[in-house]
Amino acid sequence: MRFAIFASGSGSNAARILQAVQSGDLEGVPQFVFSDRKDAGVLFKVEQYNVTAYQFSPKEYESKEEYEEALLKLLKEHRVEWVVLAGYMRLIGDVLLRHYEGRMVNIHPSLLPSYPGLDAIGQAIDDGATKSGVTIHYVDRGMDTGPIIAQQSLSIERGETKEQLTTRIQQLEHQLYPKTLQRVFKEGEAYQ
Ligand code: GAR
Repeated sequence: MRFAIFASGSGSNAARILQAVQSGDLEGVPQFVFSDRKDAGVLFKVEQYNVTAYQFSPKEYESKEEYEEALLKLLKEHRVEWVVLAGYMRLIGDVLLRHYEGRMVNIHPSLLPSYPGLDAIGQAIDDGATKSGVTIHYVDRGMDTGPIIAQQSLSIERGETKEQLTTRIQQLEHQLYPKTLQRVFKEGEAYQ
């Protein structure tokens, strides 16, 4: 499967996915990494994987539609079949959904539907939750709301800080995302 990664942050998931491709654990062909943020760590982190990186921001466009049209053009040029969101912190609009709904997946650091949106780990800690985890889901119009593909939970330890929980959740993400993508791509192939 030809896929692209969208990311806004440090890029640890993006790097892990590209590593899984290199090691043969994930059978997919990364076409490019895109970031909407110029200062995003992901742009540096993926340099070593020999994959094209693009960066532009919605601020450079008149509207969200125009921004997404620019993304869609890239996706079409690279004949991308699947879009993998890895810490891409924007709602996906109609332009991209029209073409990629059902072929776009996201990872979120909570057991959805609990704690959608920003700072899910902080939300869980502040709420005194005893359980959290990771969810991988198809993307729809909502914020972290699409059909769930995989979830893995962990217990939040008494007195655990946000930083400690973030480390454990990210370890879980790094295992679960490549493994789940491998399954999703294989299932996608079977339907082609
Ligand atoms: C990940 O924890 C991911 O689950 C989260 O952003 C982080 C990105 O980390 N995504 C969301 O919260 C989506 N709503 P990374 O840049 O190190 O991969």
